[in-house]
Amino acid sequence: MYGMVNRAVQELITHEFGESRWLQIRQMAGVEDEIFVSTEPYPDEITYRLVAAASEVLGLPSARILEQLGRWWVLQTAQQGYGHLMKAAGRTLADFLVNLPNFHTRIEMMYPGLRPPEFECTDILPGSLKLHYRSHRKGLAPFVTGLLQGLGEMFATAIQISAEEVDEGGDAHHVFHVSWKTPPEHAL
Ligand code: HEM
Repeated sequence: MYGMVNRAVQELITHEFGESRWLQIRQMAGVEDEIFVSTEPYPDEITYRLVAAASEVLGLPSARILEQLGRWWVLQTAQQGYGHLMKAAGRTLADFLVNLPNFHTRIEMMYPGLRPPEFECTDILPGSLKLHYRSHRKGLAPFVTGLLQGLGEMFATAIQISAEEVDEGGDAHHVFHVSWKTPPEHAL
């Protein structure tokens, strides 16, 4: 994955738990890079090792760390570097989710080596939809939960999320049942 993902892990941990904890985590993960270059690809293995070491050092489940990373990604990383893209992707949570299947296409123009996940929306109703998430990477569904929580916060919209795994025998496929209460200023 591009370095910006590992960078986000580093920023989240340093911000929440301090520099010395981060150094401990990086060491335990056996990662020698002191900084990650956002625009350079790194083996996925590095990200998985950092999350596993963070789980060990902090005594938190990996799923919890991935969820926090998802919130951090939307509320910090994406806002700082790609605010224009986030704004252009929708004025409300509902718009944003419906546009999500195309979101990484624009990112791929900047980062041609991107191997993004696939999103698909079905069962779209006024206050809910099903978001299908497919990836050739395993174990990242809690990251998606955190991303959705972050989007709820970004749009000041109360959001409920439940997820189920669909066994297709190959790539990961999860269905997120997302429902929300539209804040009064966005109600039609
Ligand atoms: C401007 C904002 C965003 C940028 C720059 C961005 C970029 C990236 C990058 C670089 C990766 C690593 C994949 C790779 O390097 O091959 C990634 C992965 C991912 N992105 Fe985004 N992304 C953004 C927003 C979002 C949003 C809003 C969502 C969903 C709500 C999302 C969902 C994911 C997921 C789930 C992955 C993990 C990879 C996988 O499941 O296979 N991203 N993204």
